This record gives sequence, C-alpha cells and structure tokens, in this order.
Amino acid sequence: MNDIFAYTLETWYASHGRQLPWRQTSDPYCIWLSEVILQQTQVAQGLAYYNRFVSRFPDAQSLADASEDEVMLLWQGLGYYSRARNLHAAAKQIAQAGAFPDDYDSIRRLKGVGDYTAAAIASIAFGLPYAVLDGNVYRVLARYFGLQTPIDTSAGHKEFRLLADELLDRRRPALYNQAIMDFGALQCTPRSPRCQDCPLADSCQALAANLVDSLPRKSRRQRVIDRYFTYLYISSPDGRLFIQRRGAGDIWQGLYQLPLIETPSPLSLQDMALRFPGCDAELLVDGLTHQLTHQLLHAQCYAIRSSSYAETVPDGLWVPLQNLQDYAMPQLLVRIIRKISR
Ligand code: ADE
Repeated sequence: MNDIFAYTLETWYASHGRQLPWRQTSDPYCIWLSEVILQQTQVAQGLAYYNRFVSRFPDAQSLADASEDEVMLLWQGLGYYSRARNLHAAAKQIAQAGAFPDDYDSIRRLKGVGDYTAAAIASIAFGLPYAVLDGNVYRVLARYFGLQTPIDTSAGHKEFRLLADELLDRRRPALYNQAIMDFGALQCTPRSPRCQDCPLADSCQALAANLVDSLPRKSRRQRVIDRYFTYLYISSPDGRLFIQRRGAGDIWQGLYQLPLIETPSPLSLQDMALRFPGCDAELLVDGLTHQLTHQLLHAQCYAIRSSSYAETVPDGLWVPLQNLQDYAMPQLLVRIIRKISR
C-alpha cells in the first residue's frame, strides 16, 4: 500500500519533476540555501535568488565573511528578513565548525533551520530517512487520504507527521521527498488541481468524496489587518535622499527606509501641514497597497522640505540618489521609489 503510494509518486517525478540547479549537486550548502529560499518563495522566483546567492557566495565561508548589508541586499524582495539574518548566522556556525553538519540533530541546530529544513537537507544531501512535511505534503496527504483534521492544530501536526513518516520511502528518501513536494506544487495544486490526469486519482479519497477543494482544512482564518504608512521623501539640493536604517524589533529590521509615520488612517495634505508646519508637503505616491501574510499595508509618500526634521530621525543618512540600490529596502518601498523616479 505505502509502496504503491511512493512508487506512483516517484514514477510521476521521473517524467514530471523539475530540473533545478540544486538537484544537480549533493553539496549540502547549496541544498540548504535552496531550501531556505524556497520556504520564502516559489521555485520560479527562487531560482534567480538562488543563482545570485551561489555565484556571489559559493560556500559557507564566503557567506559567513559577507557584511549583513550585502546579505540583506541579495535577499531583498523575498520578505521575512529574519530568514536572511539567520542564514548569515548559520553560515558563521558552519564556517566555525569547518564543515557542514551531516546528521539530522546537528543540522537542526543551525540557526533558522526548523524540522522541515532539517529533514529536507538530511534526506536530499545525505540520504537520511527523514520525511519532509511542508504545505505541499500536507495538501497531498489530506486529499489522498481524505483527512479532515485541521492542519494548523497540534492534533493535525501529530496525525500528519505520523503518516508522513510511515509513507516515506526509506530506501530513497531524497527522491521520495522531492517527488511528493513537486507533486504538490505541480499536480495536486492548491487551486484547480489536475485531477483529470492524476496517477493517484483512482484511489484518492478527496476526489471520490468531492472534497478536493475543501482539503486540507484549517481551523481558523487568520484575520488580515490594515496598516497605513506615510513615507517622507526628503531630498537635498545636491541630489541626496534621506534614508534611515530600521532598528531592531520587526520583520524589516536592518533594512533601510524613508522616514515612516504610521497612523490609524491615511494622512491628508492638511494632516501633513499640521504635523510639519511651514514646510509644504507634496503628495508623490498615493494608495499603494502591499500584501504581507497577515497584513495589508496601505502606503503613500509625501515630499517634504525639512532637513531639520531629518535631524530628529535616528540612524539616518544622506545617500546620493544614484547609490540608492546599495541599500536593501522593503519591497513596498522599492515600488514607491521606482514610481517616484519614473
Ligand atoms: N519546495 C521546497 N523545497 C523543495 C524541493 N526540494 N523540491 C520541491 N519543492 C520544494
């Protein structure tokens, strides 16, 4: 039974699996890098980031030796910037140890490496029998076995973990893990899965019970909150722009930004006049929205002429406009600045 499940996935993978650069190597550093990037984005976008990272940092030592600013710049646009900081810290751990760890527990101790990433690296790079459990695997298992337990509960975690471990092809863990993940990404997709030409269709419980679209189940819908950001564009007559390095404490820590005011609703021109008396504000960008996992950001940007305000902003610096691309910024701000410079 399990053998048929694994065999079917592996056969499917042989003809449908993706040819990817990190599948042409057994270098655990490259495999780790690809997995960290792929937790953050889809393969199509991740590919370019992966290629840039390995060409700039071909090994853990070179990544460990880099500055945080450079790592953040390469990561720019992927979001969840603590992953980039963890990546950098883990590279230092690896460089310090002198070699990439080669057993599950040591891999799991690398900064930022959780159960999923440890299982992926242990299996793909070292052929160790650890089953991966990511969003793709949850979806394939929930549908194929018709499992109704919500996947975001501890009961769900336990149930799916047991099943994933049981189904793993212990003789070919690298092949099996990549097969089930690609199967989830390409065949058993979240929306409009390709059930018509699915090799598991005959025995799929969700298909038989018409539950494909409602599995996997989640217990709660995360509420999305709205936030309103006003960025200040403060430039100098000699072509420099005032930016600020964000301090500790949130997902954008260590990135650069224009000075930012957050308010419960958008700021009008009148609001700006009250906040910055005597320095006429000009609306440069309005109504830009940016979706994060649990937040919808609404952004606008005003030019203001007030270098005295700049003096009150912590960690500020004046940067020549043509050097702006040397400073990693949140994607929202990259979009705003692109609009302004057009
Ligand atoms: N998603 C994340 N890692 C993956 C991998 N190794 N293969 C397929 N999909 C993935």
